[in-house]
This record gives sequence, structure tokens and C-alpha cells, in this order.
Amino acid sequence: MQPGSLIREGEVFFRQWLRSPKSMGSVFPSSRSLARAIAGQVAWQPGTYVVELGGGTGAITQGLIERGIPRENIIVIELETHLFEYLRDRFPGTRVIQGDATRLDEILAHHDIGEVSTVISGLPVVGMPFEFQQAIVRQAMSAMKDKGFMLQYSYSPVSAIPAAKLGVKSKLAKFVLWNFPPAHVWKYHR
Ligand SMILES: C[S@@+](CC[C@H](N)C(=O)[O-])C[C@H]1O[C@@H](n2cnc3c(N)ncnc32)[C@H](O)[C@@H]1O
Repeated sequence: MQPGSLIREGEVFFRQWLRSPKSMGSVFPSSRSLARAIAGQVAWQPGTYVVELGGGTGAITQGLIERGIPRENIIVIELETHLFEYLRDRFPGTRVIQGDATRLDEILAHHDIGEVSTVISGLPVVGMPFEFQQAIVRQAMSAMKDKGFMLQYSYSPVSAIPAAKLGVKSKLAKFVLWNFPPAHVWKYHR
């Protein structure tokens, strides 16, 4: 990415944070190191989709594309209109959908999206009500076959999602120092 585009990305992200800090959860977009770490964990096979919840300005989406996942197999769901429009313009060929990740079942059915191999969540789940976390994990698990898993990154050293309470297994997959703040990537599966 050109330096000018990086500045623009940071500006779009920061402006949205000023509008709705709670749903942004962070002042800065994820770093390239975090994007690479996440993309490296994704289990993509031809014919399947990778679903990203909370695309923001596309830091993780870019990492998925650089990892070689075809654009048409990447589904990005973003709630906020400004970010949705930014993502749609930034990633032609990728399916960017404006919607609420807590309605994932409906969104996938409506857009006729078939087998999902990995769900990535950049949603700010820390401190969110249990019902929110439950809606995300339950629908992410039901979108995937047995071997599928969900990746969630957060700045907390402990799992941001109460895995046992939600009946899923959790594992710390990566710690990424080169992010602000440093981030943990957690893996959840059945
Ligand atoms: C911490 S930011 C992550 C952005 C980007 N993925 C990154 O890593 O730089 C969280 C994103 O989740 C989006 N978001 C929050 N709640 C959402 C929801 N219920 N459905 C979809 N997106 C949501 C926010 O608008 C924001 O873009």
C-alpha cells in the first residue's frame, strides 16, 4: 500500500472511531504483521469461503488477498456505512456486505454463500454482552463443517470469548507484538 493510502486508511478508521468508539474497539487498524499472522492460520480450500466479520478499513482483508485467497472467496461483513463503502471501493471483486454479524445465518443464506472454511472475527467482543458473543460463536460454528474454526483477535491475553460456557474449544494460536496494541489470535472450534 502507498504511504498516502495508508494515511487515508488510518484517517477513515479514526473518524469512524470518533463516531462509534464502542463498535470500533480500537483507534488504529490492524498492522500488516497481524494481518499476515491471521491469514497464515486460515484453512482455505478451493470452493470454500473465508468470512471476515467487522472488516473495518480492510487490513485483514488485504492480508487474506496477499496470502493468495481468491477475492471471490472472501466475504467481508461490516456494519458501518462509511466503512462498508470504503471496503467496497478498496476491494473490487470481493463480496463486501453491509450487515450485522449477529445475523450471520441470515446474511449467508440471503447471499447464497456455500461452504465456509474459516470465520475471522475482528469484532470488539471484549466486554460485550454474553448474548452478543453467543450469537457470533453459535452462527460462526453453524456456518462451518466439523473441521472449520473461528479466529478472533483481541488485545486481551485471556480468551475474549467464554469458550467453555459456549461449548467450544479454544486455543491461543498466535501472539503478535508488532501491532498497536500487541494482539492475541485465538482459535475456536467444536
Ligand atoms: C476492531 S475493528 C477491526 C477492523 C479491521 N478488521 C482491522 O482489523 O483493522 C472492529 C470492526 O467491527 C465492526 N463491527 C462492530 N460491530 C459489528 C457488527 N455487529 N457487525 C458487523 N461489523 C461490526 C466495526 O464497525 C469495525 O469496523
